[in-house]
Amino acid sequence: MFRFISQSVARRGPAQVLSRPYSSIISVHRDTPKDSQSTPFEFSKENLDRAKEVIAKYPAQYKKGAVMPLLDLGQRQLGFTSISVMNYVAKLLDMPPMRVYEVATFYTMYNRKPMGKYNIQVCTTTPCQLCGSDDIMKAVTETLGVKPGQTTADELFTFQEVECLGACVNAPMLAVNDDFHEDLTAEKTTQLLNDLKAGKDVTPGPVSGRVSCEPHSGAKVLLGEEPTDLRKFTRSDL
Ligand code: FES
Repeated sequence: MFRFISQSVARRGPAQVLSRPYSSIISVHRDTPKDSQSTPFEFSKENLDRAKEVIAKYPAQYKKGAVMPLLDLGQRQLGFTSISVMNYVAKLLDMPPMRVYEVATFYTMYNRKPMGKYNIQVCTTTPCQLCGSDDIMKAVTETLGVKPGQTTADELFTFQEVECLGACVNAPMLAVNDDFHEDLTAEKTTQLLNDLKAGKDVTPGPVSGRVSCEPHSGAKVLLGEEPTDLRKFTRSDL
């Protein structure tokens, strides 16, 4: 999940790039009303405590190693990784701000633009593509009325086309914020988005009836045992 600029693409310049947009994005900050250097940002008390816990895991001289989790905390608090979030993290970790900008603009999980309430990420890498991600992309485009990279006018959805999210065995799939929805069809995708629009609770995981990533023909191992509920081991807000 990272973006890069190849030398040949950089030489040609963005105006001549005809390939997929996500591998040719050049991040340039321009102040906007929602993303300005003069907009103050600081962690909430709870997140500052979490940040201190993260920083304490690193030797004092290497505390900059905490840059990624701290940027993530900032993004979760504000909704996106603004220039103020990056500057705040740089100050907290005694890093030159440019070093933080480099990290935040390299990894695509840091969203540099204000996002909708639901970040819809559709995987179109080979396994998902072979299993029908074209249909999923079409269903999302038609249901939301936006193209990849755009946010709906009501700021409810941001739609992104992404590379492999690591759930290939349950392809095709999309992510809604941190939750994966898998084994999708166009109809199931439309239903999912309409349920979100209506404010209904949606259940992550495979929509095909599979419990996890067992074969479609049924489980072959661990028969008779309940799968481990991983939610017992993760933070409830993630
Ligand atoms: S190819 Fe889609 S999750 Fe891996």
